[in-house]
Amino acid sequence: MKLAVLAGDGIGPEIVAEAIKILDVLRAEGENIEIERAHLGGAAYDAEGHPYPLSTQRIARAADAVLLGAVGGPQYDTLPRAMRPEQGILGIRKDLGLFANLRPVLLYPELAAASSLKPEIVAGLDLMIIRELTGDIYFGQPRGRRTNAQGEDEGFDTMLYARSEIERIARVGFDTAMKRGKKLCSVDKANVLDTSILWREVVTGVGAAYPEVQLSHMYVDNAAMQLVRAPRQFDVIVTGNIFGDILSDEASMLAGSIGMLPSASLDARGKGLYEPIHGSAPDIAGANKANPLATILSVGMMFRYTFGRADLASRIGAAVRKVLAAGLRTGDIASPGEAVTGTREMGDAVAAVLRT
Ligand code: IPM
Ligand code: MG
Repeated sequence: MKLAVLAGDGIGPEIVAEAIKILDVLRAEGENIEIERAHLGGAAYDAEGHPYPLSTQRIARAADAVLLGAVGGPQYDTLPRAMRPEQGILGIRKDLGLFANLRPVLLYPELAAASSLKPEIVAGLDLMIIRELTGDIYFGQPRGRRTNAQGEDEGFDTMLYARSEIERIARVGFDTAMKRGKKLCSVDKANVLDTSILWREVVTGVGAAYPEVQLSHMYVDNAAMQLVRAPRQFDVIVTGNIFGDILSDEASMLAGSIGMLPSASLDARGKGLYEPIHGSAPDIAGANKANPLATILSVGMMFRYTFGRADLASRIGAAVRKVLAAGLRTGDIASPGEAVTGTREMGDAVAAVLRT
């Protein structure tokens, strides 16, 4: 198993260090896991003058899977857009063709109190958000800045999807629903946007090949509301890049903390990039405060989706549950008055459970 590890910026190196502890346990058991490290984001800009440098491209392309921490930081805010850390992550997604972003939202019963919603609304929550990741307004051309006829500055972006891009993500949505509760909700804004009208048409068409899946369509504003009103109505959600970006951050709070949510970004053949959905949290970087569980759970997803090792994924998930059941809490998931565990101690605890 050839793995590229990109720690990135802010809390990235700390949370990735804890995920490596998990890999070390498995290597000690005889699993053949090779790790090669490279820079991405601000760290790459500092070291090599580009957020996704050639050296990283080479290592990422050669690997079977990529493990990523997080990128970004205030010191890079004034760089031109092409050099900003975010371009590193968008660049690697596009370069590796990682069009399917899987963001499971699972509420661990132990964390019901950490959710911002009442326990009776979120108890048993288990939904999967599938976000298209290499198209939409994130990548559509033309985009840029210009001066209009009145001499005023304008900024503009293009929301754009080709039929084939919608078809392939829709298939991921239906295939995922077939393995779960057989319910798929496609989220768009077809009452306003032409892109969404095509989206809805194509998703409906792909659905003809999946008669067992119950397909519904929802406008994104309504979906944002339904996610906090009655989130358990959803099984699998499939949506475009920007709607998925926003809805997955929203949904993360249902599970207690954005610090709990892993993700997988897959290409057409199962190669994947695995990362927590949260950002680089520069305000707590280096303070041993970050929650490493989303990154550890991302390693679990890597075993499941790229390496076909559901056994290892289940063991990692079970180990995380066990430390939560034992009462360990980083600051983001601690209830008021509860003792707070550090990043390293949390990682050590999961590794220790895994070893037993
Ligand atoms: C995410 C992040 C990224 C995105 C940023 C860092 C470019 O918010 O993975 O959700 O918008 O896709
Ligand atoms: Mg986001």
